[in-house]
Amino acid sequence: MLSAYSTDISVPVARSTPLRSTSARSTRLPVPHLDAALPTRLRPADLLNISDQGADDVLSGRFDQLLPADGRWPTQNRWGARLRSDEDVDVWLISWVPGKSTELHDHAGSLGALTVLSGALSEFRWAGDQLIQRTLHAGDQASFPIGWVHDVAWTPAPGRDDAANPTLSVHAYSPPLAAMSYYEVTDRGTLRRTRTELTDQPEGDLK
Ligand SMILES: [Fe+2]
Repeated sequence: MLSAYSTDISVPVARSTPLRSTSARSTRLPVPHLDAALPTRLRPADLLNISDQGADDVLSGRFDQLLPADGRWPTQNRWGARLRSDEDVDVWLISWVPGKSTELHDHAGSLGALTVLSGALSEFRWAGDQLIQRTLHAGDQASFPIGWVHDVAWTPAPGRDDAANPTLSVHAYSPPLAAMSYYEVTDRGTLRRTRTELTDQPEGDLK
């Protein structure tokens, strides 16, 4: 059972009116429905729960029929299997191998979340003026609001035979992933979008 979590939920809050002290006689301002602009009814916390449930289902054997038939995880390329797909969400199991990163990308109009089942992942996230790295270990979770630009790659996990056991993670996207944009960091330390691709594959082409 997964137990340790390192959540990173970021929900943008728009506020056009400065905060002021209120009194009993003050006029109640209308509260904007902040989620109205998002193209999904699911929130980052929902996707964290869905990816956690997917991870638990994989570990309990519910999706054994989708795993590599010979029981051997690919060692040369990333590999993935779609665990769930409906109008709200796509859920994928991904295995990660050394030397195969996703490139710097976003998830276009989809929110995302992941749960690491085994091994470890290294994430480089664009923070506005630089890339910030963090390591996600088995049991860790992360969510990705719209506009999140990152690169994800396998990274060693202490005390683990990674040659036989690749990193495994479950990812949830809502609405189901339909496009991704790719980026590069310029010599001036800015982010430049290099291309956009229509795709329903998670975290870039699995290769
Ligand atoms: Fe991603």
